[in-house]
Amino acid sequence: MNKLQMMSLYRDFRKDLQLIEKQLERSVRSSSPVIQDASMHLLKAGGKRIRPIFVILSAQFGTYEEENVARVAVALELIHMASLVHDDVIDDSDMRRGLKTVKARYDNRVAMYTGDFMFARALETMSAISNQQMHETLAQTMLDICKGEIIQMHDQRRVDQNLRDYLRRIKRKTALLLSTSCELGARVSGTSEENIRRLTRFGYFAGMAFQIVDDILDIVSTDAKLGKPAGSDLLNGHLTLPTLYLLQDEKFVGYMNAAFDETLTEEERKNMLQYIRQSGAIEYAQQMSDRYLQKAMDEIEPLEEGRAKDAFYQIAHFIGQRKY
Ligand code: IPE
Ligand code: IPE
Ligand code: MG
Ligand code: MG
Repeated sequence: MNKLQMMSLYRDFRKDLQLIEKQLERSVRSSSPVIQDASMHLLKAGGKRIRPIFVILSAQFGTYEEENVARVAVALELIHMASLVHDDVIDDSDMRRGLKTVKARYDNRVAMYTGDFMFARALETMSAISNQQMHETLAQTMLDICKGEIIQMHDQRRVDQNLRDYLRRIKRKTALLLSTSCELGARVSGTSEENIRRLTRFGYFAGMAFQIVDDILDIVSTDAKLGKPAGSDLLNGHLTLPTLYLLQDEKFVGYMNAAFDETLTEEERKNMLQYIRQSGAIEYAQQMSDRYLQKAMDEIEPLEEGRAKDAFYQIAHFIGQRKY
């Protein structure tokens, strides 16, 4: 059990999470043994289940209907998992959640179909929900995520980019899905528009911080913990918040160009990471993440006190401190 799962929220909402887990298992069943094995493998590898948790917690502010909440939560986790399977193709990653990625276990083609299968299952799961607006929100989010992938490709190895470009990218690739998890959880419970708006914005701000921390971890964590070489973002041509901070730094730019040209040696990679770690770039990024977390917490401050709100605060805290 990881640190997040030790939190009281996993105790308080254990029953809901168990139901979601059972339905996730059911939903990855397929008449194709390859697709089923590939999906089940990723599912069983764990993951933090942040999106289902955001759905469950947001649904606490209205009338909680277990079955419908579970449907929405399952759909959001499936969409997330599908995007991970595809992301590992794009990033050419061999490890995910501590195990081999679908693309490494099988190949890129199987990974594309497995991701598509999970997307389709997500839509199927949602089809039992009659609220038209929820379907529209979900479709729009998926469209925005796709657009984000294209923008990310366009921004790859581009040194004439700024903070706004970065923020736009992480909004699409990460924050929107977390924001949508909160929005749909809130909507399915029929809470007030004001509450829906606040929870949606909480998810968005928490999501921005979540990706900033992910980008910090890519530099400060170890190869073993990441399941891929530290500095992979740069090796893949992705400039993230800490590295954008160093674009005027000649020594860093030297490393960066070598990383982009794939001429960076193993020793240089280690030196580069060390150089970034001591440059102030990490503190800069951490501060930005903290600012987003503060905004997230301010957003839900007026909401009704209770277990759900406490759990949201715990998660915000976890995001700021997380090591995985
Ligand atoms: C990984 O998401 C991809 C990002 C959006 C940073 P998570 O860190 O939520 O992945 P799992 O589900 O816990 O594996
Ligand atoms: C997040 O980006 C991927 C998705 C939102 C699908 P990353 O490429 O940084 O995620 P990791 O680091 O591989 O988990
Ligand atoms: Mg990746
Ligand atoms: Mg990453």
